[in-house]
Amino acid sequence: MRTTVPVVQGAAKALRFFDRIAPWYDRINVRIYQRQWLKRVRAEIHGLRILDVGVGTGFTTGHLTASVGIDLSREMLKRARYQGHLIRADVMHPPFRPGVFDTIIFAGSFYYLPSPEAGATITANLLRPGGRVIILSPATRLLALFVRVYGPEEYRQFMEGAGLRPVRYERLNWAACLVIAERPTS
Ligand SMILES: C[S@@+](CC[C@H](N)C(=O)[O-])C[C@H]1O[C@@H](n2cnc3c(N)ncnc32)[C@H](O)[C@@H]1O
Repeated sequence: MRTTVPVVQGAAKALRFFDRIAPWYDRINVRIYQRQWLKRVRAEIHGLRILDVGVGTGFTTGHLTASVGIDLSREMLKRARYQGHLIRADVMHPPFRPGVFDTIIFAGSFYYLPSPEAGATITANLLRPGGRVIILSPATRLLALFVRVYGPEEYRQFMEGAGLRPVRYERLNWAACLVIAERPTS
């Protein structure tokens, strides 16, 4: 049972929040998003057709030429440095055909979704068989006043419930975790 109500959850609040902090986002993010996390996320990317959900200002996949970054926030997208394609969209209503992506990344965005179960199902549907999802999320309940914080068992349930095979849940440090799951090939 969830006992706290996170301040930022769901599309409307996330949009307001990120539109407001967009001018300072990069300066804040550089202090929070540790270089080794960035390296870890990038090292897990497979294939050429990459979707970066909640791409923000392009921190994680801005260097890739063929990736697609989507975000709710026009203000974040306006500031993005990106070589691939940027689309303003809500991942809960994705403007893509099923089964087209090799890798889908949620670097600091999965926990803003209104329903993690529905988010995992949408993700599974967008992945090709053998494709993978990479999620970078907070791991400490200390942050639960601000955002949703899920544990390893919850991630396992979200992924399996969506028909994805959990590959790994890894604590990166006291604050963050990396979750990887794959769409089975058969
Ligand atoms: C913490 S920022 C992460 C930005 C970037 N991935 C990074 O690592 O710097 C989270 C981003 O997710 C976006 N976001 C939240 N919910 C979303 C949704 N349902 N669909 C698309 N983007 C969403 C927000 O607008 C925000 O830009």
